[in-house]
Amino acid sequence: MMSSTETAGTDTPSVEAAGATATSAPTASPETASPETASPETASPETASPETAIPAITSLDGLVEREEAAFLARTQRSAELWERASHVMPGGVASSWASSRPVPVWVDRGLGGHVWDADGTEYVDMHGGYGVNVVGHAHPAVVEAVQRRVALGTHFAQPTEDTIVVGEALRSRFGLPMWRYTNSGTEATMDAVHLMRAITGRSLVIKIEGTYHGHHDALMVSSFRSAAQLGSIDDPHRVPGSGIPQAMADLLRIVPFNDLEALQRVLEAHAGQIAGMILEPMMMNAGIISPKPGYLQGVVDLVHAHGGLVAFDEVKTGMVVHPGGVTAMYGVQPDMVCLAKALGGGVPCGAIGGTAEVMAAITDGRYDQVGTFNGNPLTMAAARAVLTEVLTPESYVRAEQLGRQMLAGSLAALHQNGQPAYGAVHGFKGSVVFHGTPCTDYREFLEIDLAISHCHFLYQHNGGVFLPPWGKSESWTLCVSHSDADGERYVDNVARLARDVAPIVDRSSLIFGEGQYN
Ligand SMILES: Cc1ncc(COP(=O)(O)O)c(C=O)c1O
Repeated sequence: MMSSTETAGTDTPSVEAAGATATSAPTASPETASPETASPETASPETASPETAIPAITSLDGLVEREEAAFLARTQRSAELWERASHVMPGGVASSWASSRPVPVWVDRGLGGHVWDADGTEYVDMHGGYGVNVVGHAHPAVVEAVQRRVALGTHFAQPTEDTIVVGEALRSRFGLPMWRYTNSGTEATMDAVHLMRAITGRSLVIKIEGTYHGHHDALMVSSFRSAAQLGSIDDPHRVPGSGIPQAMADLLRIVPFNDLEALQRVLEAHAGQIAGMILEPMMMNAGIISPKPGYLQGVVDLVHAHGGLVAFDEVKTGMVVHPGGVTAMYGVQPDMVCLAKALGGGVPCGAIGGTAEVMAAITDGRYDQVGTFNGNPLTMAAARAVLTEVLTPESYVRAEQLGRQMLAGSLAALHQNGQPAYGAVHGFKGSVVFHGTPCTDYREFLEIDLAISHCHFLYQHNGGVFLPPWGKSESWTLCVSHSDADGERYVDNVARLARDVAPIVDRSSLIFGEGQYN
């Protein structure tokens, strides 16, 4: 059933992050990023070779500064565009999370597993648009489907046949019989919560500490918080996102991932009040945290025993870690599955699947699941190509094989250099984590060192591999076109980082605080 790889850490003792007291992590902005301070030579990923460059660097912050200078020197056009963008878009970006230090990189185009930035530099793209691009860029099947649809009209707010084909494909992958569409993961999880409440007539919803399910009021609570904000493990704080009233947060109950006893306590404490629980069945946005054996079935059984419904948020994992997501990989059936990201092959998308009982609430009008663009013909044409032509069973096998090679090579290099590390590979997803012990929940994840994780992002970028920023929280996303050579480039960059950090004894950082999300 599970074909994935989990590789645990080394015997090498963890490195003490002593004395990290400063908390003023300078967030780069168009005003503060200073390409002028960087080397005047524009380095390409191939030529940016810190090996040749340097007097010994004795701190992680020193490595960060050196690599950020090289990064800025290579991305001058991005810095110019960022400055111009800052006059029309707050923060100079279209979405606040596209802003990352040292400068958000403007992308010009992509093809297959590669992208080119505005300075013309080519990268192996393992960012994948935050986990969307498992089909790669401009896949011929998706291009053909979208071009054909554009010529036939892209919006009617009336159903097209592709909505049926996509629903049938999702039914066979995830085992849930009925599907509806949305335009984003945010909308899919919002519908899941609405359905729980509409069907049970109850208000309280349980979510996992630290997880993100989109930016709507019902669930943007206790996401991305630092250790200092979490409160007691027995009764975690319910911290709303900015702009969200505490009254909304108070409709949630927060439990740690992988902890059935905590879940049971909450269910018993609020007997008859819990509408349901939403969780990522494999935690993403915190590296990759796998469910312990029996955890997912335990969640479903406990919540059902208390009259609630369970939704798996598979926005990041669905069709990515396995053809039928974590749901099929672990063979545990929730009441609802939320999808987005990879479904549309790069076109905005979302979907919610449910059991016959749950979806009957839509059929009989207890819940109006609506949206002008739901099932948009362009999205559905792309999704049909993704599901029926591109993401074949073989594509998952191939991606996982490449991922395993990348993980094995990376861990060998890190362990040879005394760096504690572990990792995971599941289908197109994988990560290398710079920490000795595999994390099982969000609090453990917060202990991972931020400075070395950001260094890793910079080393990869300067070495020609585009990873998502926020090195500690994100993972790689492979696509159907990535080659062994692409994977080797990743491993080479990890090896260079491993060699450079080996002599650094004091791992404290004045740039990055401890116990923070990023
Ligand atoms: C697990 C999870 N759920 C939901 C969402 C929200 O999806 P969207 O950004 O499409 O609204 C995200 C976005 O990253 C996510 O990671």
